[in-house]
Amino acid sequence: MRFVDVTQPGGPEMLVIAEGPVPKPSVGEVLIKVAAAGLNRADLLQRQGHYPPPPGASPILGMEVSGHIAQIGASVDSSWNIGDAVCALIPGGGYAEYCVAAAWCCLPVPAGVSLTDAAGLPEAVFTVWANLFAQPYLREGERFLVHGGTSGIGTTAIQMAKAFGARVVTTAGSGEKCSFCLSLGAERAFNYREEDWAAGAFEWSEQKGVDVILDMVGGDYFPKHLKLLASKGRLIHIATTGGSQVTADLRTIMLKRLVVTGSTLRPRTVSEKFVLRNQILRQVWPLIEAGKVRPIVDRVFAMDEVAEAHRRMQSSTHIGKILLQVS
Ligand SMILES: NC(=O)c1ccc[n+]([C@@H]2O[C@H](COP(=O)([O-])OP(=O)(O)OC[C@H]3O[C@@H](n4cnc5c(N)ncnc54)[C@H](OP(=O)(O)O)[C@@H]3O)[C@@H](O)[C@H]2O)c1
Repeated sequence: MRFVDVTQPGGPEMLVIAEGPVPKPSVGEVLIKVAAAGLNRADLLQRQGHYPPPPGASPILGMEVSGHIAQIGASVDSSWNIGDAVCALIPGGGYAEYCVAAAWCCLPVPAGVSLTDAAGLPEAVFTVWANLFAQPYLREGERFLVHGGTSGIGTTAIQMAKAFGARVVTTAGSGEKCSFCLSLGAERAFNYREEDWAAGAFEWSEQKGVDVILDMVGGDYFPKHLKLLASKGRLIHIATTGGSQVTADLRTIMLKRLVVTGSTLRPRTVSEKFVLRNQILRQVWPLIEAGKVRPIVDRVFAMDEVAEAHRRMQSSTHIGKILLQVS
């Protein structure tokens, strides 16, 4: 099969098309003939040699795909058949004509979503669900701030939060991106390069503070978040683009009774992902099929244009998901 190889850790020019054996599904796995793969920020880090795949995962880039089931491994229950159209969360191996996926991490392509666009759903929907709703940290009627409103995560978080009855504000890096966030249902969108987003969000909350923040920045945003949160607020970290070392006044956490947490999705066990997958199938898939949450796709690149696709994500000019059309 053809796949995207990283010749050595480095820039997008290190991505080349290579040929290798089709993987074999192990116990509990299916083989997927990949139609499309979603790009994620973590793929850029992995390409640079900063984010190795978890033990046992394919070294090939790609953490989400859509396609058709081509082969079924041992002990997979009868819910999947050869030829079924699925999208899947995988720990690696997606930038390839074939990949294996745990049957428990596959979902049917939602009605009304194209096979290609479905490749952009798993990573963002699992991450947003796991961090906001599985606990649940975000509830109906609460005030919610998500950074990176036009990222794959941000576009999904805005829509899911709205669909579950929360009120949303967000940040983005340009006026055009802020307008797009408003079109998705955010009440306010702050250009973090030009505006004091913390002051803006506090004013929006009528000086009460926000209940939940989903953060991918960290660094010097941390003390601002503690100040901005309402009593019993929840601060949830999913990345540390702005730095992982922070300083804070612990008294603020105690006096406001804040919850400060965070998580990563990729290293979780298949069983843990299966619990999330079942919740998502019951509670999020109907919202997608009703058009209340839709995949926002920035651009679809051919697999041969993978270096260009990585350059686009690196430039942060995209709005929504960047996808690779594999076959
Ligand atoms: N923990 C997990 O399990 C998990 C899972 C998936 C993704 N993630 C993380 O979630 C983030 C989004 O992922 P993605 O794949 O959707 O990537 P993406 O589309 O490349 O998004 C990155 C986002 O970060 C925003 N950003 C960067 N610096 C910022 C700042 N100082 N203030 C506000 N926003 C800032 C960017 O905003 P502009 O482009 O507008 O500048 C952009 O929207 C990534 O950091 C990724 O690593 C974590």
